[in-house]
Amino acid sequence: MDKYIIDGGRRLYGSVMAQSAKNAVLPLFAASVLTDKQVTIRETPEIADVSCMAQILKELGASVKFDGGDVVIDSSDAHSHILSSKLTKELRSSVFMLGSLLSRFHRAVIAYPGGCDIGLRPIDLHLNALKRLGVSISERDGYIYCECDRLTGAEIVLDFPSVGATENIMLAGVKAEGRTVIGGAAKEPEIVDLQNFLCGMGAKIRGAGTDVVEIEGVPTLNGITYTPVKDRIEAGTFLIACAICGGEIEVSGVSAENLGMLLHKLRENGCKIHTKNDKIRLSSYGRLKCNRRIETMPFPGFPTDLQAQMTALNAVCEGGALIVENLFETRFKYVPELQRMGADIEVRGRNAFVRGVSGLHGASVTAGDLRGGAALVLAALGAEGVSEVSDLSHIDRGYTDLEGKLKSLGAEIKRVRV
Ligand code: UD1
Repeated sequence: MDKYIIDGGRRLYGSVMAQSAKNAVLPLFAASVLTDKQVTIRETPEIADVSCMAQILKELGASVKFDGGDVVIDSSDAHSHILSSKLTKELRSSVFMLGSLLSRFHRAVIAYPGGCDIGLRPIDLHLNALKRLGVSISERDGYIYCECDRLTGAEIVLDFPSVGATENIMLAGVKAEGRTVIGGAAKEPEIVDLQNFLCGMGAKIRGAGTDVVEIEGVPTLNGITYTPVKDRIEAGTFLIACAICGGEIEVSGVSAENLGMLLHKLRENGCKIHTKNDKIRLSSYGRLKCNRRIETMPFPGFPTDLQAQMTALNAVCEGGALIVENLFETRFKYVPELQRMGADIEVRGRNAFVRGVSGLHGASVTAGDLRGGAALVLAALGAEGVSEVSDLSHIDRGYTDLEGKLKSLGAEIKRVRV
């Protein structure tokens, strides 16, 4: 398994372009099964979760070809509605296949999905919504069996604005008979992107980005060539890296609107930020101040996927911060690793109390999940001395060539095979 060797303490300067958003691309892979025409997804990030989703489509009988950054998916020969547990356990997004397989075959069998170990992550909202669309569901031996004669539109109200459940209902409702309305929908930019993609295939959907999504079912969908929205979480990770290390960088591809709460918090820290169109320029000089409180919330609130990176930043700011994790109950597992680097953080349940220290020191640490792993990399970039961050498989799930991009900004980071 690979590890990073990072010699900390370098300021970051330069510009980087964000990759396409992991959380946009994964549901698009699932949506490609909704048509027997060719689907091309452009500028696909080279991340492990994408390879895993491609494997899932191949297991169903689809052809998936990588051509430079483009992925060409032809699911005209897809014949299976059963997903083995080996692949579904590797990533949470396999759950999207429920909606798309039901749309395509009116049947789906999948093992309980896996993903990062950051909490319970139930899928009750997905399953209850599918039942409302006329699907019978039973569970045996870790597998979920779904079937229906036909999908019928329904009004569904989500108790919580779940990103995945909103997307799954869109995938199931797009070819259902009649009208489906999702109340209490999640409003993340990646949901807007899924709507754009599906409408490009001929779907009738409106309202994504608000809390009511309306879908008028259509009988068939066309092929499409589509460029997904850029990754606000990757972009945010680079901005926080610069805040920690000092320097001045520009990140392109992501609009300030999609990172509003992060930019607000980074300004509170004392960073200077200028935004224009899809470019965000951040400069950080001198010691920054802690945020008094950061609380993760569904969009447009502070994203849980940037919580760990902001904790790493607050660890070296002046003062104290309270970080509240509302979405995933065990998303502070990286904290003991930050403590090995000298951070002063106390975790109590969903709260982390950070007392800023003047600097961290290099240490050997292990990435236990995707964003927690990214936070350790950022902490190591800002620390004095050499750090090793091992078990990069988690980081590879979401970042394309993280080391290459950081190196281009002036970081001393290399990847070694162990
Ligand atoms: C998506 C993102 C993930 C991000 C998360 C929250 C993708 C591929 N992943 O995950 O990176 O961290 O949104 O922004 O887009 N819940 C239930 N029952 C359900 C579904 C969810 O209780 O059926 C709960 C979860 O346990 C969690 C909360 O709802 O506490 C939010 O989860 P959700 O929005 O569904 O996240 P994901 O779609 O899994």
